[in-house]
Amino acid sequence: MKPTIFITRKIDDQIVEKIKETCEVDMWPEEEIPVPRSVLEEKVKYIDGLFCLLTETIDKSLLEKAENLKVVSNMAVGYNNIDIQTAKEKGITVTNTPGVLTQTTADLTFALLMATARRLVEGSSYLRDGEWKTWSPMQLTGQDIHGATLGIIGMGRIGEALAKRALGFDMNVIYHNRSRKTEAEEKYGITYVNMDQLLKESDFVCVLTPYTKETHDLISEKELSLMKDTAILINTARGGIVNEEALYKALKDRRIWAAGLDVFQEEPVPLDHPILSLPNVVTLPHIGSASIKTRLKMADVATDNLIKSLKNETPKYVVI
Ligand code: DGY
Repeated sequence: MKPTIFITRKIDDQIVEKIKETCEVDMWPEEEIPVPRSVLEEKVKYIDGLFCLLTETIDKSLLEKAENLKVVSNMAVGYNNIDIQTAKEKGITVTNTPGVLTQTTADLTFALLMATARRLVEGSSYLRDGEWKTWSPMQLTGQDIHGATLGIIGMGRIGEALAKRALGFDMNVIYHNRSRKTEAEEKYGITYVNMDQLLKESDFVCVLTPYTKETHDLISEKELSLMKDTAILINTARGGIVNEEALYKALKDRRIWAAGLDVFQEEPVPLDHPILSLPNVVTLPHIGSASIKTRLKMADVATDNLIKSLKNETPKYVVI
């Protein structure tokens, strides 16, 4: 008998067909509406495998309802939406999709950095709103990217890919990470610094660390106060790493110059969120990995992880 799996969102037909070769597939049929929790709670009771997205909270109470679940395959590199400890205790394999999204996420991070520094979104609205009356010397002036210091918090795969891009713009790259990355230091000429030094010296601070209990509110009032008043904060990791209240105050009072945010504590970010009222913030709807090729690759990797786990083979990317 084929194992039964549940896919929490409508995904590409070809991928579904591939899964159907080895599994009985049940799928939430919507593309833009997440599966309601009550539906997920019912499904999880009998399935062998779960193919989920970062929008689903796979917590203790959900996992405790599962009787046959062998694998949770998350179509994301981040897995902060999953209670790893409970999965471990229940002998459930958890997998993710690193690697395939590295370059695409680094591209978006650099694009967001540039858009924020050079005020691209403001400039576009300025023109469309009919405010462009003439060319003037200090109109829509931003911050230079070339020659600036980029501080990367979290030197994993995406951090390295970002450093590589920054070098093409003649940036000076410093980084902070739990452990030194000597190979990357040699390869890209980047410098390890402590957190305070990174915050004090950087013109751009990019947050690329995983979201864990330790990195919750990693950037808060104190950290923001150490940054230059011309500095720009970019977050393409997870919203919970930056304290949004503290960030709002720092941006409003111009204690830092601007921020580019692809992620938020609550997603979708509520439209009355104060941060959305600020002109010096560029906001995106969590699209770091959103290229057609990469999203299909992520679905493919999540599928391989799922199938291998159900066949008792070792999947390529195991979290636990
Ligand atoms: C991830 O994979 O964790 C990103 O946030 C979405 O691609």
